[in-house]
Amino acid sequence: MSVIENSKLTVVGAGSVGSSTAYAALIRGSARHVALYDIATEKVEAEVLDLAHGTQFTGSSDIIGGSDISVAEGSHVVVITAGAKQKPGQTRIELAGTNANILKTMLPRLLEVAPDAIYVIVTNPCDVLTVLAQDATGLPPERIFASGTVLDTSRLRWKLAQRAGVASSSVHAYIVGEHGDTEFPLWSNATIGTVPILDWESPGHPRMTTDELDEIAIDVRDAAYKVIQGKGATNYAIGLSSARIVEAILGDEHSVMPVSTVLSNYHGIDGVALSVPSIVSASGATPIHETPFSSNEFELLARSAATLREAATTLR
Ligand code: LAC
Repeated sequence: MSVIENSKLTVVGAGSVGSSTAYAALIRGSARHVALYDIATEKVEAEVLDLAHGTQFTGSSDIIGGSDISVAEGSHVVVITAGAKQKPGQTRIELAGTNANILKTMLPRLLEVAPDAIYVIVTNPCDVLTVLAQDATGLPPERIFASGTVLDTSRLRWKLAQRAGVASSSVHAYIVGEHGDTEFPLWSNATIGTVPILDWESPGHPRMTTDELDEIAIDVRDAAYKVIQGKGATNYAIGLSSARIVEAILGDEHSVMPVSTVLSNYHGIDGVALSVPSIVSASGATPIHETPFSSNEFELLARSAATLREAATTLR
C-alpha cells in the first residue's frame, strides 16, 4: 500500500498500454487516484468511463481523465505510454523519431501541472527516449527513468519458474541492458532460491544446460515480437509491470528493479539509459553500482550502450 497519502498516478496515453496500466493500477490499488490523459478526447473519455464502471470492484482507487492536461495536476507519478507502437516485425528503435517528437511536445506541459512527479517512460524505444527526456527536462536522472527490462525480467522469471518447477517469485534473475534486441540475462548471478541456476534440479526438473539457458534468453528477447505478431500489441504484462513500478515509488519501497536510468560512471558507461538493477523508492530510481557482472556480461552491457548511443545520436 502507498505511503503517500492521497497518492496520484497519471497515465499518459489511452492506447492499449496506457489503458492496461490504469486497469492494473486500479485492480492492484497501486495509487489512491488514477488519471488517464490522451489528446484523443473520445477515446480517452470512453476508456475512463469503462474503467470507472468497474470501480465498485477495485477497492478504494478512483479514476478520472480526459484530453485536458489539467487531469495530471498534482500527480506523484506520471507514466508515459503515448506514442506510435511497433508494427509486426518492426524494432523498438525504429519508433525513435516519431515518439521523440511526441515526447518533446508533451513534457513541458506535463511538468507545468506535475512539477514534483517522478516520471516513468514506457513509450518505446524507452531507453533512448529517457535520455532525451532527461535532457529536455533537466530533471535529475533518478526522477525520470524508463520501465526498461522490468517486463523482460518478468518474462524470464516466468520461463525459468516453469522449467524449474518453482514459483516465479523464487527465481532470482535479471534481464539488463537495452529494452530490446541487445538485452541479456545476468546468468552469472542467477539463482533459484539460493541455488545457482545451473545447479538446480528437482524431481521431474533435470539440470539446465548453458545451451538451454541461451535458448530461454532468445525466447525472452523475442517475446514481444511474437505477441505483436499474434495480437498487434503487448499490453497486459507491460501494464502490470508499470503498475508494480508505481507501487515501489508510492510505497517508498526501496525495491530492486531493473529500470532504465541515464547512467553516469557506471562501469565506464555515461550518458546512456540502460536497465541495471536499481533501487526504486519515493525519490525515484538509483542504479546499484555494486551489481556483479562477469567479463562477458560487461561486454554485452557495453554493446547495449553502443547501440543506444547510436540510436540517440540520430535524434539530435
Ligand atoms: C514489450 C513492449 C512493451 O516488450 O516493448 O512488450
